[in-house]
Amino acid sequence: MILYYAPLEGLTDAIYRRVHREMFPGLTKYFMPFVSPSRALSFTSRQLADISPAENAGVPAVPQILANNADYFLDMARALRDAGYAEVNLNLGCPSGTVTAKGKGAGMLKDLHALARFLDRVFAHSALPISLKTRAGYESVDEFAALLDLFVRYPAPEWILHPRTCRENYRGSPHRALYAEAAAKAPFPVVYNGDVFSKADYDGFLSAFPEPYGLALGRGLAVNPALGRELMGGPPLTLQDLSAFHDRLYYEYLKHWPEHAVVGRMHGVMHYLVQALSCPPPLLRALRRSTAVQEYTDAAARLFRESALRENIRFTFPPPEGEGL
Ligand SMILES: Cc1cc2nc3c(=O)[nH]c(=O)nc-3n(C[C@H](O)[C@H](O)[C@H](O)COP(=O)(O)O)c2cc1C
Repeated sequence: MILYYAPLEGLTDAIYRRVHREMFPGLTKYFMPFVSPSRALSFTSRQLADISPAENAGVPAVPQILANNADYFLDMARALRDAGYAEVNLNLGCPSGTVTAKGKGAGMLKDLHALARFLDRVFAHSALPISLKTRAGYESVDEFAALLDLFVRYPAPEWILHPRTCRENYRGSPHRALYAEAAAKAPFPVVYNGDVFSKADYDGFLSAFPEPYGLALGRGLAVNPALGRELMGGPPLTLQDLSAFHDRLYYEYLKHWPEHAVVGRMHGVMHYLVQALSCPPPLLRALRRSTAVQEYTDAAARLFRESALRENIRFTFPPPEGEGL
């Protein structure tokens, strides 16, 4: 089974991807969180580091572009080709209000004529093959048939489908039947994405859709970094795995980032990892309140020492009362 790490902006940056790859090898690709090019292709130094091939050495990482301006997309695709990448992914799925208000991400699914004009241009001129990552519609799944008719016209190497609409955001359940529809009709492979958070979810998915081309996992991997290993028949996550992953990530951020940025980032990492643990509430509170590096170091060490791994690890939103970070 082909398994990908779906992009999680604010979490799966180059450092995270490298550490994850090193400790839990086996995923076929890591899709990078989006970059949103402007006319001058100007990026912050952290954004540049994140997409630089040197920072992604040894990781099969695919850059993702969020753009509704075909020229910006094409310039960026050229720059990525020159940097050595072999594929670029187009974000047609981001549901964030600030993104869709600018007509980007899932906002591009609203106007099929404009989307077709954009796709005609970028597919005709792109320096790199363009894979797609989309939602199943903007307002309603009734839009899906027309979207499917549109996408199948383009020579995409693959399509990652998260079958919720933009309006649904992450509410309700993904419309999995739409995945089967897409896989049956598309001339290119379709990768399923959405709410596969555990081995039980995976088995449930496979019993309904026995031969998917592949799955992209997001929040499930953020909570359980060994989820891919387990789905491929390897051992499930251990407490030792989780604390070693945390410590290695923390060490790498401390090595590369200013201290003041590290604790904030680690809170973001722990927002997910604590869902794999049964933590005494006072320890969670201490972690949440930590602001200085030493405070965080002590709180995290104590948390891993005094917590147990949960029985049925899975991402839950919102986290049960008192158990979130
Ligand atoms: C915090 C967060 C950040 C995300 N960032 C991106 C992104 O940069 N690009 C993208 O295509 N999808 C992004 N997504 C969507 C995920 O890649 C994925 O499609 C979604 O979480 C559903 O998969 P899951 O149920 O396995 O998590 C993000 C989702 C979350 C929760």
